[in-house]
Amino acid sequence: MRRKFICGNWKMNGTLEETSALLGGIVGLWDDAYRKVEVAICPPFTSIGLALDKLSGRGVQIAVGAQNCYSETKGAFTGEVSARMLAEAGCTYVILGHSERRTIFNENNELINRKIKTALNVGLKPILCIGETHEERELAQTYEVLLHQLTQCLRGVDVTQMKMITIAYEPVWAIGTGRTATAEIAQDSHSYIRSEIGKLYDETVASQITIQYGGSMNAANAAELLEQTDIDGGLIGGASLDAKAFTAIIEAATK
Ligand code: PGA
Repeated sequence: MRRKFICGNWKMNGTLEETSALLGGIVGLWDDAYRKVEVAICPPFTSIGLALDKLSGRGVQIAVGAQNCYSETKGAFTGEVSARMLAEAGCTYVILGHSERRTIFNENNELINRKIKTALNVGLKPILCIGETHEERELAQTYEVLLHQLTQCLRGVDVTQMKMITIAYEPVWAIGTGRTATAEIAQDSHSYIRSEIGKLYDETVASQITIQYGGSMNAANAAELLEQTDIDGGLIGGASLDAKAFTAIIEAATK
């Protein structure tokens, strides 16, 4: 049995004041049953320290992650943050390959692959996002796109390192649009991803890897999505900024 994993991707939201308020709300709504679920939040870099402070000693089990890191360890890379810095700051996870990074910041699979490796080197767990655009789905290229992103982004990552990796299937057309993939569409992609991981690695890796769904998951649709055989959790954008909605999704994951 794979443990469900619910992770909030706050994107560029969360001043210090907002971080305090949101985490206060989540802590207030926390139920002990949520310990069954792996829960994490990924606030902006500037709120990571505060988030760790607000969550420690509060009787909740919520890990903190970052939304990006650079592919080099240190040096003249103005504006970048290294995986080591994030690990040192107390991060457990790092989201890599998000479609917003791919489209707005021109990140390609080769760069994402290097970022994954630097994260793994310092024990930071990558959440690798993959997903097709609306156009690619229309052209029936979904599987091809998913396989390409998987193989390129995971190049050189070995069987043992795969234990550290979470895959987030995020159809680009569903992100922030309110157009969630139907449970059937999502399950189909998840099952495809799992079977390809079985071919790239082995059956054990395939059966153990966590595959999250991301794209307009909310309190209303989480239960149906999380019920699907190959959907092991969610990477939640918009709904993770609301304590009630986020805890309702965690609640759905306990079922
Ligand atoms: P959304 O974002 O839940 O707001 O669609 C998901 C994501 O981008 O990770």
